Amino acid sequence: MDFFQYKHQQLFAEQVAVSDIARQYGTPCYVYSRSTIERHWHAFDQAVGSHPHLICYAVKANSNIGVLSVLAKLGSGFDIVSGGELARVLEAGGDPGKVVFSGVGKTEGEIAFALEQGIKCFNVESPSELHRINKVAGELGRQAPVSLRVNPDVDAKTHPYISTGLKANKFGIEREQAIAVYRQAAAMPNLKIVGMDCHIGSQLTQTEPFVDALDRLLELVDELSGLGIEIEHLDVGGGLGVTYKNETPPDPDTYVQAIVQRMQDRPNLPLIFEPGRAIMANAGILVSKVEFLKQGAEKNFALVDAAMNDLIRPALYSAWMDIVEVDRSLVRDRHEYDVVGPVCETGDFLGKDRELAIAEGDLIAVRSAGAYGFTMASNYNSRCRPAEILVDGDKLHLVREREKLKDLWKGEHKVP
Ligand code: LLP
Repeated sequence: MDFFQYKHQQLFAEQVAVSDIARQYGTPCYVYSRSTIERHWHAFDQAVGSHPHLICYAVKANSNIGVLSVLAKLGSGFDIVSGGELARVLEAGGDPGKVVFSGVGKTEGEIAFALEQGIKCFNVESPSELHRINKVAGELGRQAPVSLRVNPDVDAKTHPYISTGLKANKFGIEREQAIAVYRQAAAMPNLKIVGMDCHIGSQLTQTEPFVDALDRLLELVDELSGLGIEIEHLDVGGGLGVTYKNETPPDPDTYVQAIVQRMQDRPNLPLIFEPGRAIMANAGILVSKVEFLKQGAEKNFALVDAAMNDLIRPALYSAWMDIVEVDRSLVRDRHEYDVVGPVCETGDFLGKDRELAIAEGDLIAVRSAGAYGFTMASNYNSRCRPAEILVDGDKLHLVREREKLKDLWKGEHKVP
């Protein structure tokens, strides 16, 4: 459930008409709903119930400081994959003690930064990384808390680009090698083993792969315990999907219950969840203006002022994202359009073959664009990245200003 609804045929974000937001801040712009973010986060948190747990929101889904500050106020933890994401969490008021650090290529600088901030745990993806963390921790005179990301080799049944838990993927440590690598870690003086984690992919629409992965991890936890290595928390990653079109993912409650049920005989083994998309996707829309309507030989095109640089998911994954009229009271002919941007690429589209009742100058909104929208935006074609606005009831917060032309070459220099 989200808080983007039509009232009298006008799309509203909470209590504010989207057309008013566009008038005030221009287009294209991302609009987020605070209530939706909070509702989704609580859905996870409450579903776990009394089992000890931490919800570590995956910052990569949407790392805007305003968004992170909303989550920080809820007491959320954070899953980060770079020093940059850690810096954002700190800037937003997040607690570093609730941060888990994932990612296959952590640099020495990033590891040192995270150690100095006192993060909860490094989710380690290779033996080489273990050695690196041990070395940096030694230099800083610290003990680094580590978890090993185990690749459970389960098929997440999602798009191949966002499937991460198969043997063919670059992520994690193979299940068969996990025990040996834990033993290596146990022998390193500057590491403290605290956890085990996995993340099998994104936009999953079934519960089964999650449960399969958990079962495989639990077998390893028991095996390690027999060797005297105790796992203090289990991190099941993120990956719960959302409905973009007609997908029917389990709701957070059903998904979380399936996991928690498996933990009934382990009430003292805390769980960590790393949801990104399930919290943010439906908490945001991308608002854009129709610049031109153009009739091609075979297709009609709606040329809008947002493009693949603002929202790359359709171009990159052929992702289907819903496109709607912001004002449905306007009397317009209904036609089928490819909704495309001004970027000089044939792949620059937001949606294909969409029936829309629009005219030049009208506003459209791409729904479910709150996750992996702005965070994947670029300046391709020297386009300024859009503004981001967070709606809170009837209040608007400009949480990121639209980039200005001068921002485009910030840090660049002419040569004499
Ligand atoms: N934890 C780890 C270690 C991850 O790699 C990810 C996402 C998450 C958590 C959060 O997954 P989520 O709950 O959001 O599915 N750009 C793609 C999605 C890439 C996901 C990468 N990892 C997209 O737009 O569909």
